[in-house]
Amino acid sequence: MTPTDFPIKCEQSFLYLSFIFTSLYVLHCSVLQRFLLGHEQVHIKKSADLPLRFRSDGTFKILQVSDMHFGNGAATRCRDVLPSEFGSCSDLNTTRFVRRLIEAERPDFIAFTGDNIFGQTSVDAAESMFRAFTPAMESKLPWAAILGNHDQESTMTREELMSFISLMDYSISEINPPAEKGIHGFGNYHLQVHGVLGSSLANSSVLNLFFLDSGDREVVNGRRTYGWIRESQLCWLQGLSQKLQYGGRWEGISTDSLTPALAFFHIPIPEIWDLWYKKFIGQFQEAVACSSVNSGVLRAFVSTGDIKAAFMGHDHKNDFCGNLNGIWFCYGGGSGYHGYGMAGWPRRARVIQAELEQKYREWTGVKRISTWKRLDNERLSVIDDQVLWELQ
Ligand SMILES: *[C@@H]1O[C@H](CO)[C@@H](O)[C@H](O)[C@H]1NC(C)=O
Ligand SMILES: *[C@@H]1O[C@H](CO)[C@@H](O)[C@H](O)[C@H]1NC(C)=O
Repeated sequence: MTPTDFPIKCEQSFLYLSFIFTSLYVLHCSVLQRFLLGHEQVHIKKSADLPLRFRSDGTFKILQVSDMHFGNGAATRCRDVLPSEFGSCSDLNTTRFVRRLIEAERPDFIAFTGDNIFGQTSVDAAESMFRAFTPAMESKLPWAAILGNHDQESTMTREELMSFISLMDYSISEINPPAEKGIHGFGNYHLQVHGVLGSSLANSSVLNLFFLDSGDREVVNGRRTYGWIRESQLCWLQGLSQKLQYGGRWEGISTDSLTPALAFFHIPIPEIWDLWYKKFIGQFQEAVACSSVNSGVLRAFVSTGDIKAAFMGHDHKNDFCGNLNGIWFCYGGGSGYHGYGMAGWPRRARVIQAELEQKYREWTGVKRISTWKRLDNERLSVIDDQVLWELQ
């Protein structure tokens, strides 16, 4: 960057912020106009109830929706559906599926793990994003998203997209931690899940959620490859994880169990290939489209000690969970109809549930983390229910 670039950059980001606020205002107005006759104040953003917390029955449920690949709505055709299904299938089927998932599972939080829109097809990125996340916003549930490799292929950059997403109703997504500088990418953040209201851990995080930007595409030694999680991101993650564990909040509680954490990112790490030769639960039906660069994500995760499972997207036909060095890595499976898939193999999504331990009628820390998937068929069939982690 030359010094003369600077004012231009500032001007651009100012213009860009104005653009975001204007788009949001216009979107809100167009939606609100239909419902409001009076002179109610128009709010820029409807905020989710924070912090996230476990329910009074000691559970916390996350719905992971990956690879919605949203285009332009009703006019956008589905890929890889049966010939008999093609005529009546569009992006609206993705919307319908996400709505049904929310209704059936009633999750506490929704995590969208990238390729939320299919930028190559999307005429207007903001519009596609808004439509893709409409079921989440309608549900009024807190939700968060990260980007895949296709989100920025339309009219907005990755930075603009993450800002836009963070400003949407009930979104608790963040661009990057405000106090940290120099973290690569956009969409690296941490969310806490507090203990049950009224319990002694009501004001403490008993489950941590880490979101990481795995990038889009890169050229390495003249060859095209996918993005990867960089050293700066792993440094931030390791520092944060340590701070969370030794921040003193575990006083009086057994310290042999660290507060468990879950990670969410889009592009799988190279070691996922090793699972082909190991035990996995679910389907391994396509090549792991990872980066040619191995930046040591697995090693970093293992070193934190608190990350019990990681949830990815990207490879729509892979929906398995496998264990690498004590950490589970699970694909969400493709949820979107405009993304590639397999005709006759239903689109799907993943559910993750954490349960708290009860000691002397008092809810304490997490005792079990389990997962299952839901298929987009008539009964929204539940498959591959498994326990990922249990307190020893
Ligand atoms: C898409 O939605 C339409 C209308 O609800 C429905 O008739 C059709 O069966 C759906 N297609 C698929 C592949 O789910
Ligand atoms: C949690 O914070 C609330 C509000 O500040 C307070 O009323 C409550 O006593 C706190 N609970 C615990 C267990 O610290």
